[in-house]
Order: sequence, then C-alpha cells, then structure tokens
Amino acid sequence: MQVIDDLIQKFLKELNYQPILEMLLHVKSGKKLRSKLLLAISGESKEAISICATIELIHLASLLHDDIIDESELRRGVKSVNSEFGTKNALMLGDILYSKAFYELSQMNTQFANIISDAVVKLSIGELMDVNLSQDFNTDKDKYLSMIYNKTAVLIEASARCGAILAGLDEKSFGEYGKNLGLAFQMIDDILDIKGDEKTLGKPSMADFKEGKVTLPYIYLFESLDEEGKKQLKSMFKKDLNEQEKIWINTQFKEKEILEKSILEVKEYAKRAIDAIEEYSNQKLKDIVKAMIDRNF
Ligand code: FPP
Ligand code: MG
Repeated sequence: MQVIDDLIQKFLKELNYQPILEMLLHVKSGKKLRSKLLLAISGESKEAISICATIELIHLASLLHDDIIDESELRRGVKSVNSEFGTKNALMLGDILYSKAFYELSQMNTQFANIISDAVVKLSIGELMDVNLSQDFNTDKDKYLSMIYNKTAVLIEASARCGAILAGLDEKSFGEYGKNLGLAFQMIDDILDIKGDEKTLGKPSMADFKEGKVTLPYIYLFESLDEEGKKQLKSMFKKDLNEQEKIWINTQFKEKEILEKSILEVKEYAKRAIDAIEEYSNQKLKDIVKAMIDRNF
C-alpha cells in the first residue's frame, strides 16, 4: 500500500501546485480496499500499481465530492476537506484528482481505461440516484440496490475485473465477485451507521436517516411496522433526532430484529461473491470478504 501512496504523491507533485499537497496532508489514509482486491487477484506488477493509484485517486475524489453533497463535517475521524478548507477548495481538489487520474488512465492499455472510465460514469450516476432517492422516503428495495450498485459496487467490480485481466483470469467471474462484495460492503456501511459509534466510525452515527437516506435496515423496519409505527418513523425522516427518538428507533430495530435480518442479507451477497470465484480457491479473496463483514468501521 505504501508503494501506491508513493506513486499517488509522485502524480500529485507533478501538478506543481503546493496547496494540493497541503490539503492532502490533512486527509487520513483509507483502507484501500479496491487496491488490495486488485492486487490479490493480479499479483504485484508496475502496471497493477499504476492502476491501483488511479483507482484510489478516483475514489478519493468521489469522497471529497460526496462530503460536499452530504454536508459531512467528518471523514475518517478528522475534519472533511470541505469543512477544513471550504467547499470551493474541496470541489476543485476533487476535480484535480479526478482529472489527473484520467490523464494517467489515458497512458494505459485502453482495456483498463474503458473499464474504469465506464465505472466512474456509473458511480456518478449512483451518487445522483442517492441524491434523488433522498428527496422522499424511499421504501423501494430495488431502487436502493440499484443505487448502491452504481454508487459503490461498480468501482469495486471494476477493480476486480482489471485484476483478472492483468492475471489472465476470467474477467466475468471476478467481476461478479467484486460486484457482490461491493454490494455487501455498502450494506455493512449502512448497518454500521446505525450500530456504530462516532469514535469507531470516524463520523457521527445515525447520520444517514437525517440526510434522507432510507437504507436497507430502515426499509426493512418500515416494512415490519404497523400503520401507526410507519407514520411515526416517517415523521422522523430528515430530522435531527433527539435522544428519545433515537431510543424509539433503536428499540424498534431490536424488537423486529432488523439488523440481524440485514446482516443475513449481507451474508447472502458475501456468499455470492465467494461462489463466483470458488474454482480459483484464492484464500486472500475469501479473507477480504470475511474482513469486510466483520469490520466495525
Ligand atoms: C459515499 O457514499 C460515496 C460514494 C461511494 C460515491 C460518490 C460519487 C460521487 C460524488 C461522484 C463524483 C465522482 C468523481 C470521481 C468526482 P456515502 O455517503 O453513503 O458514504 P459515506 O458514509 O462514506 O459518506
Ligand atoms: Mg457521504
């Protein structure tokens, strides 16, 4: 992961504008799931490292823009770039990282450039779907699934496909693995928003519902409530919840065993991911799935 970070630094130094580096100094490094995945499939090579660095740049750019859209003040336990340096800086830094990533992609084999640029279009559409779904109280699980597929799973799927191409393995099977892992990953993220605390999450807990995001657990909760309960839940949508309201929601989650039901769904997608690559018996890829389900941040 250090080699990837070094390459990202090299890319950014080439831009020759100090504020870019200063702002990025403030950003806490992420888990680099997409790179770990790609390398676990492809093995190490110079080309693989370059692809990883561009994917991480794109991922980081998307988070900078996402924090502006979600008006998030915290990311990975530190102030988000928009809250530390202002929206205009965060917006432009996102554009710079994203454009530099595309410049680097244009230097690569077109196969990789095609897969990744297509993924970025979809992830942007996914974010737009998220924004639009947040306008109203969405109870349609299919719409939620399509949104998280585009917003999150597509770039993970693309990473897995690039890894497979590099290794001369079946792109379709590994794409299926990445897609299902990505869906499970976002579902876990949505469950942790409810289950986690600010310290481990690095962002406030139960923020999704306030932001208008009716995630999988809330969809299941809504389905399980009677008319009175449905009304009650809807009345809390997009509001700054007080302690009593949070207790009411958490009690309903417990009584109806909603988080358990949501985790069963995550495990279903995790199983699909592992099944897709069963014949390759790659233990590292199985471990990535397991670590992702067990994570608490
Ligand atoms: C996090 O979702 C957001 C994403 C995974 C994708 C964001 C994509 C864009 C903003 C499109 C623009 C793309 C580029 C490359 C400039 P979340 O809000 O559910 O997760 P969080 O809790 O980590 O914020
Ligand atoms: Mg967000």
